[in-house]
Amino acid sequence: MLDADFEPTLATAEALARRWIDGIDSRPTSISSSAADAVAAADRPFPETGLGGAEVLEELAAIAEPGLASTGSGRYLALVTGGVTPAALGADWMVSAWDQNAGFAELYPGVVGVELAAARWTLEALDLPRDSAVGFATGGQGANTAGLLAGRHAVLAAHGHDVETAGLVGAPSVNVLVSDEQHSTIPRALRLLGLGTESATSIPTDSDGRVLVADLSAALDASDGPTIVCVQAGNVNGGAFDPIAEISAEIQQRKSQRGDIWLHVDGAFGLWVRASDRFGHLAAGVEAADSWAVDAHKWLNTPYDCGIVIVRDRGVLARAIGYRAAYLPEAMAIPNPVDSVVESSRRARGVPVWATLRSLGRSGLSDLVDRCCDRASELAAALEKVEGAEIMHAEINQIVVGFDDPSGDDDHDGHTNRILAVVQAGGECFPTGTIWRGRAAIRLSVSNWRTDSDDIAAAAAALTAAHRLRD
Ligand SMILES: Cc1ncc(COP(=O)(O)O)c(C=O)c1O
Repeated sequence: MLDADFEPTLATAEALARRWIDGIDSRPTSISSSAADAVAAADRPFPETGLGGAEVLEELAAIAEPGLASTGSGRYLALVTGGVTPAALGADWMVSAWDQNAGFAELYPGVVGVELAAARWTLEALDLPRDSAVGFATGGQGANTAGLLAGRHAVLAAHGHDVETAGLVGAPSVNVLVSDEQHSTIPRALRLLGLGTESATSIPTDSDGRVLVADLSAALDASDGPTIVCVQAGNVNGGAFDPIAEISAEIQQRKSQRGDIWLHVDGAFGLWVRASDRFGHLAAGVEAADSWAVDAHKWLNTPYDCGIVIVRDRGVLARAIGYRAAYLPEAMAIPNPVDSVVESSRRARGVPVWATLRSLGRSGLSDLVDRCCDRASELAAALEKVEGAEIMHAEINQIVVGFDDPSGDDDHDGHTNRILAVVQAGGECFPTGTIWRGRAAIRLSVSNWRTDSDDIAAAAAALTAAHRLRD
């Protein structure tokens, strides 16, 4: 049922959103619905007649809320999940109200201008080359794919092959050097780019998940064709950084002899340490890379979805990804954002990035990174004191912890997984699990601006209590 009066619908949306947000601190972090129940709750027949907007939203909230995760909570430590800052949420609402298509500068200049400013501030915050192309993608997957797409273009062009026109048939094969700790979005990008996962050579890592430079260097020496090296700034589990300064130096040295090497940095969350005086050194050397991927919806605490691809050479990204059509406006003085990401029409997801950076300022962003790292250190220190808990790796805002089975059965993995299930159901905090170096582990990511020392104490207590349940 369509009604020109937006007022009741917007008032209901605001009231429901307020109710959700006001409950963030008091609501248990457990999800009250199973996935099957949530799907069943929404599985209703397509109605014959419509409903007013306000009633639609009431019905929507009743259906969805029991299955919503407490992602905004300071005790939601799953995956790498940022909360949403007030400025980012407000800006995201405005993006929907404005309903602009951020792909085209001449048609939608207001949001494109704001996105360009957000792009400049991002380059400053991360201290990356200021002339780089910046694209607002859907997330780390989209940003990694776009960065590697630019890399595929450049390394094949260096061999005289125009992959955009000729495709991969007849192209020299591309070597992709990645660590055995690569994020799974990298092999998926290789599948999407037609390079295939077999194009990747897996380079071993140390016990913390850092690529071994000597092995990478040997692999570089052995690769005499087009080569993409993909390094990681922030391992999704333990937060480790590849020794990027050393790797960059190895690559720069080879680049003086050959033009067919591309260095891509997957820094989905870890790249934000560049905004911090205390932690920036971990990502030293990334500025020498050719492309970077970073997420705003992780540590920058914008709402989903927003990843950012950055490519040093604007022309390379535009040639690899850009497109034209007679009905679409040509870029004039301002480049079309459509030439930086795989999406054509898209929402102005860079606007919440602008709002977040505007509300934090340089010092607030640095403080956000520092605070999350400090809270993570507190949590690691608390868990270290628990007999039978083993911090497998903890770096920046990430912790990987396993627990020894106190029953004497040596079922450490089973015990750790049981702790995870008890804690997730208990509602005090919400971590997720992983396998770390062959062992079941619990991973804790402190990426939310709201997480404070009380949240950390609650998380430590919940994990400790669940571990001791079997004492
Ligand atoms: C290092 C790294 N790369 C890529 C990704 C994928 O990001 P997204 O889920 O936004 O696509 C993640 C997600 O945690 C990540 O940690």
